[in-house]
Amino acid sequence: MIVIGSDHGGFELKEAVKALLFERSIAVEDLGTDNGNSVDYPDFGERVARKVSTGEAEKGVLVCGTGIGMSIVANKFPRVRAALAADPYMAKMAKQHNNANILVLGGRVIDENEAREMVATWLDAEFEGGRHQSRLDKISVLERELYK
Ligand code: RB5
Repeated sequence: MIVIGSDHGGFELKEAVKALLFERSIAVEDLGTDNGNSVDYPDFGERVARKVSTGEAEKGVLVCGTGIGMSIVANKFPRVRAALAADPYMAKMAKQHNNANILVLGGRVIDENEAREMVATWLDAEFEGGRHQSRLDKISVLERELYK
């Protein structure tokens, strides 16, 4: 299951991502926002990141204006690897090298077609493991030290 969320700056792109996930018959839980009215991105980033952090959801997609705020929020949560991507190459690397479990997009940075391509690329790419797993293991060690 994929959880998705946005603020007002990412609302339209979130809707486009949701449509793509429906087309691919992927179960989606949309945690808001539900319209273009101004809201605070941490409120929605928290909802998505918490579910990925606890394992209730396997993956998430977050969208705000630039993607920066959502990235900052999501990466506060243990076990979340949120990657802000601005093009398909970054989306592919986010999975292959970083095994990102949340993809973050900027609604004022990319258009709907780019977002669809990037989400599809991220979903279809495979984590390469090996030396990349060793690097993620170092992050897990840091998490255990910082959050005990
Ligand atoms: C909202 O105006 C904007 O600050 C937000 O969507 C995001 O870009 C923050 O990082």
